[in-house]
Amino acid sequence: MTATKGLEGIVATTSSISSIIDGVLTYRGINIDDLAEQASFEEVAYLLWYGKLPTEAELEGLQRELDAYASVPAEVIEAIRLYPKDTNTMAALRTAVSSLALYDASANDMSAEANLKKAIKLQAQLPTVIAAFSRIREGKEPIAPKSGVSIAHNFLYMLSGEEPDEIAVKALDQALVLHADHELNASTFAARVTVATLSDIYSGVTSAIGALKGPLHGGANEAVMVMLEEIGSMSRVESIIQEKLANKEKIMGFGHRVYKNGDPRAKHLQKMSQELGKLIGNMELYDMSVKIEEIVTGQKGLKPNVDFYSASVYTSLKIPRDLFTPIFAISRLSGWTAHILEQYENNRLIRPRAEYTGPSSARYIPIDER
Ligand code: ACO
Repeated sequence: MTATKGLEGIVATTSSISSIIDGVLTYRGINIDDLAEQASFEEVAYLLWYGKLPTEAELEGLQRELDAYASVPAEVIEAIRLYPKDTNTMAALRTAVSSLALYDASANDMSAEANLKKAIKLQAQLPTVIAAFSRIREGKEPIAPKSGVSIAHNFLYMLSGEEPDEIAVKALDQALVLHADHELNASTFAARVTVATLSDIYSGVTSAIGALKGPLHGGANEAVMVMLEEIGSMSRVESIIQEKLANKEKIMGFGHRVYKNGDPRAKHLQKMSQELGKLIGNMELYDMSVKIEEIVTGQKGLKPNVDFYSASVYTSLKIPRDLFTPIFAISRLSGWTAHILEQYENNRLIRPRAEYTGPSSARYIPIDER
């Protein structure tokens, strides 16, 4: 038995949800470029869950369900008030999602119908939970979700209490489309491993949030912003990036396990970053990002991934840095739950083996002889 570090190249499951073939990403066979340009996030979530694009009536039906479920139990909000104000936002989200299960009478109902309903419910509740945490730590009261608006619109509204700008809603909606699913990424795999024990959907999503939190996965978008802030201005880009490369530090937002010739999502986020920079009349973050890309791609051949231009996009939308990864979670929740439903449909326990590298034939030494 020989281990493959990081399971690179290992095909661990079959799935009909999304594919990455020759560097092209599709959701249910539809190219991500077409979805990014034409579909709303709600349409994409429907596509991931049901395996087909919704008709107008079906989309309206989904919107009604999202509206009906968007509030979270008062007990969950009361518990959020007790979280340390400076706690990590992904840690807060992980705890809040786990606690949502406590107030859902159907949490352990394993019927396909109940699980799909819980997927939609979680999709509706995640933005509410994140916005509530964000406001409570600022000493403000949470804002109740609105009905009849998109998830992107509702989230921005619940964060600030003000009606969001149409362009901001469109940009966030497109970012949600681009992050919705990504084959067997680390957090999706974590979700599938958890539910393959026939544990409940909340446990699967909680595992996934824990995996997404790390800086090698979803946490990279926040780490990119930390780097941009550390660099501070265009004049410092060259020296700081060269120093990082010389010290063999990883440049956040670059490289990918699967894409070696570039992440197809990055170009959309780059375009969006440029457009938003123009709109707010401040191109500095965009220009710095382009310069970093020139250096890193030029010297290491590494291309930006989905996280790199997300950082400047979200900053232009005035979203606090530590909400970037929770936003990723709002989007990826659609993919996680689609994979969880798929896993339940054709389940087998996921239990690989390890190549043992420890001592052999070691003797037990009684404690008083050690
Ligand atoms: N900066 C500098 N060097 C890098 C980077 C980077 N961002 N990414 C990879 N490399 C180098 C590695 O140091 C390694 O070099 P070596 O062979 O000389 O040791 C080589 O490229 C291969 O890299 P690995 O880390 O082995 O690649 P792996 O497939 O394990 O990791 C990963 C992929 C985690 C994405 C990696 O590229 C990375 O750490 N990037 C930065 C973090 C990041 O942006 N994560 C988000 C990924 S996208 C997502 O999850 C949404």
